[in-house]
Amino acid sequence: MEIPDLKKIMKPNWSHKPGYGWSVKIGGLMKHKILEQSTTPQDKRLLEKLGIKRGERVLAIAGYYASWASQLAKNKADVDYSDISKSMVNYAKTKYKNLFGKYICSNYELIPEKENQYDWTFTFEACGGAQGLPIAYLRSLLNKKGGIMVLYFNFDKPEHMGGKWKTYPMIVKKLSEIYGTRYKVKKIRISGHKKGCKNSSLVHRIYIIYTNERARKLVKIDLENLEKPSDKKDIETLESLRRLNKVSKLVKQEFRKELK
Ligand SMILES: C[S@@+](CC[C@H](N)C(=O)[O-])C[C@H]1O[C@@H](n2cnc3c(N)ncnc32)[C@H](O)[C@@H]1O
Repeated sequence: MEIPDLKKIMKPNWSHKPGYGWSVKIGGLMKHKILEQSTTPQDKRLLEKLGIKRGERVLAIAGYYASWASQLAKNKADVDYSDISKSMVNYAKTKYKNLFGKYICSNYELIPEKENQYDWTFTFEACGGAQGLPIAYLRSLLNKKGGIMVLYFNFDKPEHMGGKWKTYPMIVKKLSEIYGTRYKVKKIRISGHKKGCKNSSLVHRIYIIYTNERARKLVKIDLENLEKPSDKKDIETLESLRRLNKVSKLVKQEFRKELK
């Protein structure tokens, strides 16, 4: 039986620094002139379109330039910004000051730490769809409501998407199956702009996983086994390892480990 190997997952580090972005084409960091995410929303109905209510606690993971996280906060969600990169967190802190509740420098595989800390985990186009992102969304089931992922499919530059448009639906579908939760995949028009362009109505894909009490309980057990697999042979442990075996199919083979 295999389970995701957290140590291996967290080893290759895709952390960015302000002014540079990852280029699939060159397989490395590329200099950027415009410090924004690939799309920036400017939509008064942003929260409603994403299914977030005013005042709900949102953990923005892989926050990058915070183009999305800041718009969630400006539309009155209660947002904490996070990113793995210290320099990105410092950039966001300097630019957005007290717009966010907290600035968290962390791997998204490790947050939130506890149940019911947040209503939602949110990300726009985070990388790691077949590496650590499934673990971040497993963790999002600890929240009161669940997790939201957003993607803008740029038909002009499909190579920029990597495998996101395949891995994102897989993550919400599979986790829903394993933990008995609901999910939704939809296309929504959001007003905003592509980097360096004028405002228009842009079709985004939204992937939402909704948690429930049972899922929160199971995920708590599974996260403990993910960090340190128990060698107990009771039914609860075996069922947990079986669920983690299913979760492991969401990550590439190189990020799994065999249990003896
Ligand atoms: C938002 S994503 C990809 C950018 C996207 N294509 C765009 O234009 O909006 C990049 C961010 O994720 C962060 N990141 C990468 N791996 C991470 C991880 N394991 N945990 C938390 N943040 C991570 C990087 O530091 C970077 O700021």
